[in-house]
Amino acid sequence: MSATDNEAARTEQLFDDANTHAIDPLELFDLWLEKAHASEPGDANAMSVATIDENGLPDCRTILLKGRTGDGFVFYTNFQSPLGVQLLANPRAALCFYWKSLRRQVRVRGPVTVVDSALADAYFQSRPKGSRIGAHASDQSRPLSSRAHLAQKVDRLGKEFGDDSPIPRPEHWSGFCLSPQQIEFWQAGEFRLHDRVRFSTADQGAWRQQRLYP
Ligand SMILES: Cc1cc2nc3c(=O)[nH]c(=O)nc-3n(C[C@H](O)[C@H](O)[C@H](O)COP(=O)(O)O)c2cc1C
Repeated sequence: MSATDNEAARTEQLFDDANTHAIDPLELFDLWLEKAHASEPGDANAMSVATIDENGLPDCRTILLKGRTGDGFVFYTNFQSPLGVQLLANPRAALCFYWKSLRRQVRVRGPVTVVDSALADAYFQSRPKGSRIGAHASDQSRPLSSRAHLAQKVDRLGKEFGDDSPIPRPEHWSGFCLSPQQIEFWQAGEFRLHDRVRFSTADQGAWRQQRLYP
């Protein structure tokens, strides 16, 4: 069965009240993401990442999903910016994908952990040289006096690293992995009578599946 046929069959099962086949929500997420890559104009792996700050005030920003390793959702950022600081202090998050071309949404919630440094190193080294220098140059989310100041910093670091020397991953730049406790699949329906199915698990046990009102 092709990936397209597999995605169609699994999605039909997902929203079929009579279905008795167990559905793996992580496998289904991968199939939906693959389909979104084919239909979205760009960044199908973009997701909103919600956290809360030290005062309990919610925060939210768009981040690229960079891995679906094992049972988790992996993304990378600067650990000194609010996203990093908030997750290190309160390691729980919610993710939300919206694929307009498919009229589909996926919501994911759960605890996060810092990824192994070997995984972060490998991903960092896979990035273009300019992005690696940029990660060193950017004091992400802190005040910047001018664009010219950033350009000078990038230029200086480029010369310091030179053409051949390796560019190490900054210590304050790494990844988080969210282990899902809830995954909800949403597909738009006629007259706003959407289909929604939420999967929940406790302690990485078996998934429980529940249809929800739209
Ligand atoms: C499409 C898109 C993808 C982005 N991907 C990332 C990313 O993977 N990592 C990252 O740190 N910032 C990414 N950003 C920038 C973040 O939205 C945000 O500006 C940055 O992480 C700082 O957020 P913070 O101040 O809450 O820490 C992306 C922005 C957009 C619009």
